[in-house]
Amino acid sequence: MSAGLRRASRHQEEKDDEVPQWIPGLGQDKPKPRTLGTSFFGYVPDAFVEKTPYLPSEQSADALKKEAAVEPVKAAEQVADSLEQEIVPRDSIERNGQSAQNRLLIKGGRVVNDDMMQDADVYIEDGIIKQVGTNLHTPGGTRVIEAKGHLVMPGGIDTHTHMQMPFMGTQAIDDFYTGTRAALAGGTTMIMDFALPQRGESLIEAFHRWRTWADPKVCCDYAIHVGVTWWSDKVAQEMEELTNEQGVNSFKMFMAYKDTWQLNDEELLESFKRCKELGALAQVHAENGDVIKENSKKLLELGITGPEGHEMSRPEEVEAEATNRACVLANQVNCPLYVVHVMSKSAADVVSSKRKQGHVVFGEPIAASLGTDGTHHYHKCWRHAAGHVMGPPLRPDSSTPKYLMDLLANGDLQTTGTDNCTFSAAQKALGKDDFTKIPNGVNGVEDRMSVIWEKGVVSGKMDPCRFVAVTSTNAAKIFNIYPKKGRIAVGSDADIVVWNPHATRVISAKTHHQAVDFNIFEGMEVHGIAEFVVCHGRVVVEEGEVRAISGMGKYVPTPVFNPHVYGRLEERERANAPCKVERAPYEGPVAQLNGQGMQEGGIIPVQQETFYTRGPTRSGGVNLHDSSFHVSGRQRDDDLLPRTSIKLVTSPNSSSSLLGTFW
Ligand code: URP
Ligand code: ZN
Ligand code: ZN
Repeated sequence: MSAGLRRASRHQEEKDDEVPQWIPGLGQDKPKPRTLGTSFFGYVPDAFVEKTPYLPSEQSADALKKEAAVEPVKAAEQVADSLEQEIVPRDSIERNGQSAQNRLLIKGGRVVNDDMMQDADVYIEDGIIKQVGTNLHTPGGTRVIEAKGHLVMPGGIDTHTHMQMPFMGTQAIDDFYTGTRAALAGGTTMIMDFALPQRGESLIEAFHRWRTWADPKVCCDYAIHVGVTWWSDKVAQEMEELTNEQGVNSFKMFMAYKDTWQLNDEELLESFKRCKELGALAQVHAENGDVIKENSKKLLELGITGPEGHEMSRPEEVEAEATNRACVLANQVNCPLYVVHVMSKSAADVVSSKRKQGHVVFGEPIAASLGTDGTHHYHKCWRHAAGHVMGPPLRPDSSTPKYLMDLLANGDLQTTGTDNCTFSAAQKALGKDDFTKIPNGVNGVEDRMSVIWEKGVVSGKMDPCRFVAVTSTNAAKIFNIYPKKGRIAVGSDADIVVWNPHATRVISAKTHHQAVDFNIFEGMEVHGIAEFVVCHGRVVVEEGEVRAISGMGKYVPTPVFNPHVYGRLEERERANAPCKVERAPYEGPVAQLNGQGMQEGGIIPVQQETFYTRGPTRSGGVNLHDSSFHVSGRQRDDDLLPRTSIKLVTSPNSSSSLLGTFW
């Protein structure tokens, strides 16, 4: 027996008498632990051969690195071509009779939503949930999945992926086929990807390019966020078209990637204002790109060229500062804000404290920040260290994952994504002599559900309802597709995961479904396996086997003016509307300006007789025996510019804090 298998079964034995109360039918017919693969934590040499199709093992590593370095995009295209051949086309599946699976009963499980658990059967027809309850009447010929001892939960929604994204001179190796197939394997039935135009490029063209890539390949549903990577009137106008005609309700702005995607504060403010006008959600990549550029230069000059330089160049405060700035700017124009990939304690604290002040802001930690940490940047193996490079970086403070999980469990953070953006060893090697050239990105789309289950539920930080909230329901609410997604209820899409909370597996690049040759969770033993996954009413994972169908997924439009986000904002705006001070008009002297806006003829003396009964002192000062208060109501400083009204109101969310809002 392999070490991994031994470890997994011993763990199962140890847990035998610790059966959680919320798992039905345990003790009598406990399912056997299913263990997948085995590995040690760290570098996985075999995985390179298996997962990097354009790296035939007979070629020398040096020649291969050279090839990838010269033509990285071509290399990525070859990967895409080779993957294309594995795709099972939709019509062949239909010919095989799987379309007859239009009636399905999931029987005997415990249904978990974000707000309740119930022992119930779920009946599905034509991709929609038709009945939830016990003793259901179902037509003959219905396929039955026995779910006793299992949890029946909404399929996961990964709020943040970058499938086949062209980035840093290369292209993410997991495309819309391998990426979404892997998502299904892990229990995720919907992803949200980003269409990111180059600076100066049309947002609409970028959106359509992403759709053209995704539509023929996606095995699960998907939505698209669009990047606002530059600013102009045309961008503002295209944002409107995207919201009105293409079902986009969220835009990502970058505060990092100087000289490519980074926006300055004025552009950020303009884009936030536009989001507000359109009823969209503003998203930010919160890191100070100017500081990163400066630090990177210094580190390279010091000869620090390895992956540790990536982490050193962008410490926590660089993320926290940008997070705070984004919150302030968004709040000033009353725009809801969503902070993507929250990677540090201090950035999470900013989100949490702004929420306490009443800001409409959401925070998204990712599988990586919840499941591993940045000590790996200091690993002696270059590939291992580079495999963890992403931005903002994983933090070397190893207590960060637990801290973020605590905030996620108690509601300070709301959703979970992965920022899945994978690069092979050869692609990462583009930065072998300069950390600033290492393509940024890590895996997660396949393992997010298991990692959160392990670190969140098995650790006792959250119950299964909260697990559902942070893996699907909150995302569905925030992006306005609830309850079609993110809920097991009559009328909702039949995107369901039948979760075996007792089975364990050991995560490894050797056994995962992703195309990438590395896994940041390598060797991690996790409880919780997606034993059956139903997507659109089709069984796409069956006892762990993936039966993905390319192009089976659909684009999911996300409507604007989401009541879960904008409902509160509109009320808030009404409650805090600025109001002018009613006063008698000023009737005193007014200085005259010349054509250049300068005061002409020196200072025109202000007539003060109405205020000063005792006249000025000999030196011309105010006579202190004079009162500054005048019964007429007009005051000594009324002839100064009126102060802009600053309204202080109590935050709707907090009785203790005051919210100073000025607009
Ligand atoms: O390292 C990362 N995060 N890569 C993807 C691009 C982004 O900033 O989300
Ligand atoms: Zn980002
Ligand atoms: Zn990202």
